[in-house]
Amino acid sequence: MTSLREVLKRAEADQVAVGHFNFSDLVAFNAIVAAARDKRLPVMVGLSEGEREFTGVRQAAALVKAVRDEYDYPIFLNADHTHSIANAEVAAKAGFDEIIFDGSALPFEENIAQTRKAIEAIKSINPAILVEGEIGWIGGSSSVLDKVPDGVGVLTTPDEAKQFVDATLVDILAPAVGNMHGMLASMVHGGVQKRLNIARIAEIKAAVRIFMTLHGGSGTNDDDFRRAIKSGMTIVHVNTELRLAWRRGVEAGLAAEPNEVAPYKILGRALEAVKEVVSSRLELFSSR
Ligand code: G3H
Ligand code: ZN
Repeated sequence: MTSLREVLKRAEADQVAVGHFNFSDLVAFNAIVAAARDKRLPVMVGLSEGEREFTGVRQAAALVKAVRDEYDYPIFLNADHTHSIANAEVAAKAGFDEIIFDGSALPFEENIAQTRKAIEAIKSINPAILVEGEIGWIGGSSSVLDKVPDGVGVLTTPDEAKQFVDATLVDILAPAVGNMHGMLASMVHGGVQKRLNIARIAEIKAAVRIFMTLHGGSGTNDDDFRRAIKSGMTIVHVNTELRLAWRRGVEAGLAAEPNEVAPYKILGRALEAVKEVVSSRLELFSSR
């Protein structure tokens, strides 16, 4: 099967992005796979440390392997926002395709030192795993927020991006370019959207010349997504929008079937709701 690196190279050349969607249960996982297969697009699935703890690291890897084996499908597994080298090693041994070592909350020099160590540890287990590093604080939670978290809004500069990439040799960079994890209530209701600094994305891409990931995709303006992808974002992460769809779908399923106890008869609505979000995001990220 084609490697993640090959899929990203193709996307970069075509100026499109590969959608990355988080999951922590079989409903969301099957919804993501169904949406990607309908669109015939490669897809990345990811789990944060919390999502991995709930799902199981090897269980997540087994789900992805099952889809690859059954359909020969280009689906790739990412250990999202990994904060410890020990957890990165566990994911590397379980067969993840990408690992994000997230030192973005650390002072810059410490982030560089820890990311370098993580890369050594991961690549000594499997040199084919792509490692992503993060700079700039964009908040830490895919949830509905009361306010913008303290410290969010400071943009990564092209100089610090280059310094970080040169010092760590990461394969992929996640910079802060106006993006934020999670959604404000005003974004959930649709009145407010996240806006990105497109010029800064282009400047950082020109400085680092490696793959870049846009985190915090939920609630972002569609046109900003398109322009960010054209300017150098090759992976786009979306989580909160899926979580909201999952919750609304579960609530609708329970309300529609008040006496039902078979999970699969209740959770179909949640699967459809998550699939719809993933489909529309994949459509947007792959449009030229
Ligand atoms: O790594 C996950 C994401 O960056 C998702 O962010 O919840 O704002 O879509 P989001
Ligand atoms: Zn993220």
